[in-house]
Amino acid sequence: MPPMQDHLVERSLASLWHPCSQMKQHGTGELPLLGIVRGQGAWLYDTEERRYLDGISSWWVNLFGHCNPRINAALRDQLERLEHVMLAGCTHGPAVQLAERLSALAGGELGHCFYASDGASATEIALKMSFHFWRNSGRPDKQQFLCLKNGYHGETVGALAVTDIPIFRDAYGPLLRAATVLPTPDARLAATPLEAAHKAAQALEAHLAAHHGETAALIVEPLVQCAGGMAMHDPEYLRLARALCDRYEVHLICDEIAVGFGRTGTFFAHQQAGIRPDFLCLSKGISAGYLPLSAVLTKDAVYQAFYDDETSRGFLHSHSYTGNALACRAALAGLDIFAGDDVLAANRLRAGRIGSLLAPLADHPKVRHLRNRGMIFAFDVEADAGFGRRFHRAALEREVLLRPIGNTVYLMPPYILDEAEIGLLCRATGESLEAALP
Ligand SMILES: Cc1ncc(COP(=O)(O)O)c(C=O)c1O
Repeated sequence: MPPMQDHLVERSLASLWHPCSQMKQHGTGELPLLGIVRGQGAWLYDTEERRYLDGISSWWVNLFGHCNPRINAALRDQLERLEHVMLAGCTHGPAVQLAERLSALAGGELGHCFYASDGASATEIALKMSFHFWRNSGRPDKQQFLCLKNGYHGETVGALAVTDIPIFRDAYGPLLRAATVLPTPDARLAATPLEAAHKAAQALEAHLAAHHGETAALIVEPLVQCAGGMAMHDPEYLRLARALCDRYEVHLICDEIAVGFGRTGTFFAHQQAGIRPDFLCLSKGISAGYLPLSAVLTKDAVYQAFYDDETSRGFLHSHSYTGNALACRAALAGLDIFAGDDVLAANRLRAGRIGSLLAPLADHPKVRHLRNRGMIFAFDVEADAGFGRRFHRAALEREVLLRPIGNTVYLMPPYILDEAEIGLLCRATGESLEAALP
């Protein structure tokens, strides 16, 4: 079947309900809807053969470009063997190999991997596992979850309960179980990143001292609160949070759905703090941007609390596509690229280059807090509420796909940009800023 090109956008607007979108903005043409027919490397091509550099890795999932030949070849091979089998009562090679390799990459202590399909389902699983662990361990009062101001962990009802972004959360407030929102270590909130880390940790300590008996877990996005506007913090916060969670017997859930897989410069973000979480949530880059897949890794002590003669003490959670063979195979192909190409070292050079091209923006009178961690770059812009949409359109006109979060412009490109693409991305960022300012 040839790719559908005729009236793609019109038919999409008539038949699809697009995610994270006020459909009227597309309906009135205020926001363009791109009809994409193919992808190649960092580029997306629309029905008119216009091209766009994917500056945000298609919602932070794509690592090695679109239609990557090595991942495509692995998937073709997998298609001829096994596309999917349920993971209850059955197992298969890609799921097992991926669990083993993820555990090794996480340092070897998170040896039990539970698969799901999307990021939000990984969050749900970590929360449920923590709660159920305490119950199975004779501590049924430990039911409460702690999360951070401005944090984001997904949109399903359980994940939204530990998300603190009003635009996503407020409409559903009555549906959500109350969680405790604690201060964020966002480096912008104090004179130095370390001071911000210490202040947030003090608030965590005060809360835990009073409430540890009823607290199951703290969930954090290590190093960068992405959906909250690329708010970055010092690794010291993670060290302090880990120590406090240990002292007060509270689980630490690291949600690395957005920041895992090299995004912050190390393979996993928490590794920059030299700590280990009790639960590690992964998705997005896990399958290099190919197929929906998520995983929660946890340690033996958690697994053992569920290992029992009684069925109901087991973790009975399930999703039909859990551990899909194609998705796991794409993930393994992605890990092969990481191992074979020394991707983290190449990214250090790429990030240095992007950083130096963006550096002059720090002196722009409307730009605040130009910041970078690994392959994430961001700055805030002093402008009116329409800035983000104007910037998005201006960038498209310059062949670059960027979608600011509020007035925060960010770049999160795939790990394959060459010098010319880096130049275009940074040039378009600067020009779009000027074009979008009133
Ligand atoms: C930190 C974090 N957690 C969870 C999620 C939810 O993932 P998904 O959109 O795959 O459900 C996201 C998505 O942006 C995220 O950034």
